[in-house]
Amino acid sequence: MKLESWLRAIGALSISTAYAAEDILFYSQPASHWNESLPIGNGRLGATPFSKTDHEVVVLNEDSYFSGGFRNRVNPRSLETFPRVRKLMDEGNLTGAGDTWLQGMVGIPISQRKYEPAGYLNFSTGHLWNQTSGYERSLNLATGVAKTVYTYDGVTYTREVVASEADQVIALHFGANKASSYNLTITLDRALGNAATADGDGGLWLRSSGRADSSYTHTQYAHVSVEGGSLSSTNSSIIVKGASSVTIVWDAETLFYHPEGQATYEKVLRDRVSSAQKKTYADVKSAAVAAHQSYYSRASFTVTGANSTSPTGKSTDLRLSDLRGTSTFDKDPGLLALAYNYGRYMLIASSRPGTLPANLQGIWNDVFNPPWDSKFTIDINLQMNYWLANMNGLDEILEPIWSHFKRMEARGTAVAKEMYGLPGWVCHHNTDLWGDCAPQDAGTQWTIWPMGGAWLLFTALDHYRFTQDREFAKDVALPLLQTTLEFYNAFSVLQDGYYVTYPSNSPENSYFIPNGSSEAGAQTGIDKSSQSDRTLMWHLYSGFIEISEVAGSSTGVEQAKQYLARLKAPDISPTTNRLLEWSQDFREVEPEHRHFSSCIGLHPGHQYSPLNNATLAQAAERLIQHRMDSGGGSTGWSRIWASNLYARLLHGDTAVHHSHVLMTDYMYDNMWAITSDVFQADANFGITSAVNEMFLQSQNGMLHIGAAMPTMSLLHGSFSGWKARGNFEVSAEWENGQIISATVKSKAGGSLALRVQDGRAFKVDGQVYSGPITTTKGASYKLSF
Ligand SMILES: *[C@@H]1O[C@H](CO)[C@@H](O)[C@H](O)[C@H]1NC(C)=O
Ligand SMILES: *[C@@H]1O[C@H](CO)[C@@H](O)[C@H](O)[C@H]1NC(C)=O
Ligand SMILES: *[C@@H]1O[C@H](CO)[C@@H](O)[C@H](O)[C@H]1NC(C)=O
Ligand SMILES: *[C@@H]1O[C@H](CO)[C@@H](O)[C@H](O)[C@H]1NC(C)=O
Ligand SMILES: *[C@@H]1O[C@H](CO)[C@@H](O)[C@H](O)[C@H]1NC(C)=O
Ligand SMILES: *[C@@H]1O[C@H](CO)[C@@H](O)[C@H](O)[C@H]1NC(C)=O
Ligand SMILES: *[C@@H]1O[C@H](CO)[C@@H](O)[C@H](O)[C@H]1NC(C)=O
Ligand SMILES: *[C@@H]1O[C@H](CO)[C@@H](O)[C@H](O)[C@H]1NC(C)=O
Ligand SMILES: *[C@@H]1O[C@H](CO)[C@@H](O)[C@H](O)[C@H]1NC(C)=O
Repeated sequence: MKLESWLRAIGALSISTAYAAEDILFYSQPASHWNESLPIGNGRLGATPFSKTDHEVVVLNEDSYFSGGFRNRVNPRSLETFPRVRKLMDEGNLTGAGDTWLQGMVGIPISQRKYEPAGYLNFSTGHLWNQTSGYERSLNLATGVAKTVYTYDGVTYTREVVASEADQVIALHFGANKASSYNLTITLDRALGNAATADGDGGLWLRSSGRADSSYTHTQYAHVSVEGGSLSSTNSSIIVKGASSVTIVWDAETLFYHPEGQATYEKVLRDRVSSAQKKTYADVKSAAVAAHQSYYSRASFTVTGANSTSPTGKSTDLRLSDLRGTSTFDKDPGLLALAYNYGRYMLIASSRPGTLPANLQGIWNDVFNPPWDSKFTIDINLQMNYWLANMNGLDEILEPIWSHFKRMEARGTAVAKEMYGLPGWVCHHNTDLWGDCAPQDAGTQWTIWPMGGAWLLFTALDHYRFTQDREFAKDVALPLLQTTLEFYNAFSVLQDGYYVTYPSNSPENSYFIPNGSSEAGAQTGIDKSSQSDRTLMWHLYSGFIEISEVAGSSTGVEQAKQYLARLKAPDISPTTNRLLEWSQDFREVEPEHRHFSSCIGLHPGHQYSPLNNATLAQAAERLIQHRMDSGGGSTGWSRIWASNLYARLLHGDTAVHHSHVLMTDYMYDNMWAITSDVFQADANFGITSAVNEMFLQSQNGMLHIGAAMPTMSLLHGSFSGWKARGNFEVSAEWENGQIISATVKSKAGGSLALRVQDGRAFKVDGQVYSGPITTTKGASYKLSF
């Protein structure tokens, strides 16, 4: 390591002391792998610069770049196989049922479309890294600007990358403190043999079609402009000589957003790039920053430890490596605040009104065969991506989910009919950009699960509860709930007095078929009405009744009430005292399994809590503890789900512990979360929600401040701009682990039931609190102690 980097590394030389420890990621060296790059995005377009001084590659993404067009993958043998599977299950032939399902009901082909990189913008400067000094690259979460600064041959070079919602482009800007300093060679390519061609006018055009399906086409266009110096081009690159500054503006378009065809989107593309390129970089940047800030500035969280603030001037990789040497956040509590902010930042960057939802990698992907296709897994992952949205006031950021529901509903209606011969719509454990709802992969423990839409609808139910937006309830949530219930009403079978859902499973766990059966010892995932199925149905049907009331609709309500009356309540294993995972007391194959789907009723649901049903909450806790004691929490998202669950169990210290382990064991140096040795964004979003859940909960009609207050660390802090169900906006401050003040603003009027920490006494506007308050819309209520 060079002396200067080393001095900066040990904190002896700090040019970054102005950086807030909670808002900036920064490093003294370029990224050596993609998992060290710094992500920017505007919801539709994303970029991950490595920030190398020479031979830079900026990975470019556009969220609808997938491997091909829609295909109907429904297995034509499905309809006749479905009743046979049921019959085998009724006969107790579970392996036969599972095998029959896999033979006759898997999707053909088994995989949905894959998310792909749009392209790679490469440029070389001739500035060899080992001849530069003063290097620093940073990502400012508060502005969304990624910046690189270094000195080479006496000139200080500055490079910035922003993603603009207003202009719908990624803009790169190269500046220097001396005129005529830039010599660059710029290319754009897309691997697969697709290199851009220069148009002789500062533009690089790249047109190509999807790998698997030539009917799915896309085009991208980068435009280069310079101040001073000259521009020239070869067939495939643009050459800049002696420029004082350089600006590159890039956009990409596909048939997805412009189904009318290539001619339409190429006009959109040229218009967008041309109009952005006519503006100054400063103007493009300020509009990009303003849009980003309009979301980012809505909520805040600060925390300090015993020794006050976190280190400033210490780079993020070193802060993380120091954290790895500790078991608490005591020496750098601001790192948790940084992770909280990064989750909000990443969601704002990968989801905006009008875009596709944040996928398994948010919006960032550098390879053509990404882990799990970098699409939408909906048996926890897409759900987790959005847990933070309402709590941090990012209501519009959820719009892509509502639009995607419509696509899923359309595809899922065909799947319900063609696979099961049933009305309504259904989706299995994955979906892609087209809303494909046919099953993905081939394994009983994941593929056969028909509950994807049901669980994803929690997002819509909670959105109403947070916002009290009646129009949303009536126009968006209710119609979707109605068509979803149509499916489950028809799919459920009354057996022994209860509605039973099958074939299904408990995502993504399997069990040993018990002794006494001729199949004893075999492993399967197939089940009838697993605990998670029942809790999903409970939330779906009770949520439907709630939303129907709000919307003034009685259609289907009576039937829903009857369904709930015949839905088996959560039950507890008589042998282990844990919440029972399956329909029977089966022994699980993986005690350390990463999924906690049996406990959805605790989080993100609200079927029971330690305050309203301690018996069930304790049984859930035993199951979670059993998993963790057996080596659970072994993926980023599993670890952070555990943190969220412990917050709902009101165990603040344990919730903090699992967030800490996420940051020490499941994070790259760019703070991207890790699942199975690869980047997966869900835990980045989930840690934001875990922090929210520690300090504010609002399920079951109670606004609970300091619900899972840590007692061992994070003892001083504050938050503001957080939202609670009922449309309340909350801020609070704590010292030594005790809430010392809080303000609740009522945004919709309505009743306000409050609890602070473990039930401490407090006053509201000077009056001792003794029960729910009827609030006035727009009024604020001050809590004192
Ligand atoms: C980052 O990615 C590279 C290349 O993909 C991989 O070799 C490396 O192990 C990853 N880093 C970590 C810390 O996993
Ligand atoms: C279970 O079902 C499979 C598939 O239909 C069949 O091959 C097998 O013989 C059945 N097993 C028993 C014990 O009936
Ligand atoms: C640009 O970078 C990518 C990723 O490293 C590489 O595959 C490609 O060959 C490079 N293209 C050019 C023209 O240098
Ligand atoms: C700098 O790096 C280049 C390319 O890696 C190498 O050829 C050169 O020897 C290095 N110079 C020094 C002074 O280390
Ligand atoms: C840029 O290129 C010109 C001519 O090719 C050369 O004279 C000049 O030194 C280069 N500038 C830098 C900063 O490398
Ligand atoms: C550049 O393009 C022209 C016209 O298409 C072609 O004749 C020429 O061979 C190309 N040059 C290179 C170096 O690819
Ligand atoms: C706070 O600083 C003091 C003095 O440097 C040190 O002894 C103590 O361990 C620190 N406490 C924490 C929680 O880091
Ligand atoms: C089931 O049978 C196996 C093998 O015979 C035995 O090891 C196991 O203890 C039995 N399990 C139960 C629950 O009886
Ligand atoms: C908790 O839930 C169980 C199962 O639904 C139920 O039997 C029990 O009555 C509930 N306890 C309370 C206190 O509501």
